[in-house]
Amino acid sequence: MTGHRQALRDTAREMVAAGQGILAADESNATMTKRLEAVGVESSPDSRRDFRELLVTTPGAGEHISAVILYDETLRQTSSDGTPFPELLARLGMIPGIKVDTGAKPLACAPGETVTEGLDGLRERLDEYRGLGARFAKWRAVIAVDAERPSRRAVAVNAHALARYAALCQEAGIVPIVEPEVLMDGGHDIARSQELTGDTLRAVFAELVDQGVALEGIVLKPNMVLAGYDCPEQPEVEEVAQRTLELLRQVVPAAVPGIAFLSGGQSDELASARLSAINAIGGAPWQLSFSYGRALQATALAQWSGEDCRAAGAQSVFAHRARCNGQARNGHYTPDMERSLVA
Ligand code: 13P
Repeated sequence: MTGHRQALRDTAREMVAAGQGILAADESNATMTKRLEAVGVESSPDSRRDFRELLVTTPGAGEHISAVILYDETLRQTSSDGTPFPELLARLGMIPGIKVDTGAKPLACAPGETVTEGLDGLRERLDEYRGLGARFAKWRAVIAVDAERPSRRAVAVNAHALARYAALCQEAGIVPIVEPEVLMDGGHDIARSQELTGDTLRAVFAELVDQGVALEGIVLKPNMVLAGYDCPEQPEVEEVAQRTLELLRQVVPAAVPGIAFLSGGQSDELASARLSAINAIGGAPWQLSFSYGRALQATALAQWSGEDCRAAGAQSVFAHRARCNGQARNGHYTPDMERSLVA
């Protein structure tokens, strides 16, 4: 293995290290503005910075958080003591990363479907991000589901773009998080979710292999296999765990070091319980980790609500979620843990 390839593999392994997972704090300004306004905070570069600084400086955060995905704005910001964010994270024992896609845009002649953009100029942007301290990147493809969707075309173009992005990242010495998200909005049942997630992941791995991406130097970020949120039949935690692991075993090569699930709108508790149940099955060839946005941050954000006097409470809430998910990495999360929070 070349030194370059080995360095990618080492970083990917660090990102999915045992007992830890990834904090997705890479909301675009538009998304973060919605989240801040929902708790009564005016969105500005400073308020966005303040909340993210609050999260990452939580005492002990590095114990269960291996890496943090940042948005372009944050990567270029400094913390309140003047430390550049990537440097702050590195000092706290967390790997800095960067979201590099420019969003899911309507796919031509395919109503209701999207293709994620951001390939133009990506080589140059990756070089700059690397210089600013980013060691990994993220690109999210979005697959919508209803009676007619997804089309084969939507899956194919998104898989192709993910692989082009991943190859460019690896060329730049940056580990790509490959995120094909099959949405759980809608009324589809868990069997359809399993089938469509399988179709999507098969297309993604075919493209990754065709485009020469080193599988040992990526982190896969998929959805869990769930029922659509409007489906009247909601599966038990065990069924989610079994179907998710069964599918991943069929489609994800063992060379991939780790799979870090997105939370995708699950409640905090279910995101922890399902990850724990997946890990409890055991015997998987890859690390089974988390890369949560909402399921790590939402409760802390509501607790903070922009008030300095509530910052310590918000950090306790965040530390608690990180601890719960850290335990879930070993299959040791129990709902009882929720009672141990002292905010
Ligand atoms: P959620 O965990 O809130 O789904 O966010 C993860 C993420 O990074 C989506 O791209």
